Amino acid sequence: MHGQFDLTGRTAVVTGGSRGIGRAIAEGLASAGATVVPTARSEDDLAAVVEGIEAEGGDALAVSTDVTDPDSVDALFERVGEAFGGADVVVNNAGVNPAAALGTPERVDAEGFDLVTDVNLRGAFLCARAAAEHLHERGGSVINVASVGGLVGLPRQHPYVASKHGLVGLTKSLALDWAPDVRVNCIAPGYVATDLTDELRANEDLRASIVERTPLDRFADPEEIAGPAVFLASDAASYVTGAILAVDGGWTAR
Ligand SMILES: NC(=O)c1ccc[n+]([C@@H]2O[C@H](COP(=O)([O-])OP(=O)(O)OC[C@H]3O[C@@H](n4cnc5c(N)ncnc54)[C@H](OP(=O)(O)O)[C@@H]3O)[C@@H](O)[C@H]2O)c1
Repeated sequence: MHGQFDLTGRTAVVTGGSRGIGRAIAEGLASAGATVVPTARSEDDLAAVVEGIEAEGGDALAVSTDVTDPDSVDALFERVGEAFGGADVVVNNAGVNPAAALGTPERVDAEGFDLVTDVNLRGAFLCARAAAEHLHERGGSVINVASVGGLVGLPRQHPYVASKHGLVGLTKSLALDWAPDVRVNCIAPGYVATDLTDELRANEDLRASIVERTPLDRFADPEEIAGPAVFLASDAASYVTGAILAVDGGWTAR
């Protein structure tokens, strides 16, 4: 059974792999044996991730990419092809939810909306498209990191919720088009302790209301999203495609 989770010999690209959930997923995939390509815009953050993985005996290559730029995304997968022959796993994790996109719908301007959908949704599509040839040749898989905001509405987060519902839809439609060669799945995390939720956790009332609404009574650690990603990337999930796996401490069970 243990061998089913072994990712030795596979190459995994993780967007937004420099911090938070993406970093934890990159480290988790590396510890399961994959060669990992963490990617984000900040080269310094990526270098630290690669150093950490190598210190644990893993293999990693940092490639700086902006997922909103199709040329940058194409260059990423060209580099992965040159270095490792191609990608077996693509984790579309890069995501943003900036202040400019928060608040009542009347307050959100078009630029704020575009930024969120460009990173969270269009970026995932561009990466999947750029990796398509590798994934088909190698029988690979895609894992999209959505959110509970991809499953239910959340007030005052309209661009974010729209982008994550879109990512859930993209997961299902890619799964249909690319079966049976390529599996495409989605993880929908609940509230996780990362930079993205710093302000939210600093607001005691908001923090307490989220914890109270979460059956497991706490925010997740980023590492708790890594196990589900290893599962979906591995042969243990060989009959899983088009699935949305909530990793939310029971938040959407209410
Ligand atoms: N934290 C939560 O509670 C939570 C809950 C549900 C879902 N999620 C989702 O999980 C994912 C990761 O969230 P997180 O909390 O780990 O966020 P985070 O700590 O803010 O990290 C975001 C990552 O995305 C990268 N990124 C941002 N814009 C990018 C771009 N244009 N091109 C390439 N990379 C870009 C960032 O690196 P650079 O800035 O260097 O590019 C960073 O590596 C997101 O999709 C988020 O929506 C998070």
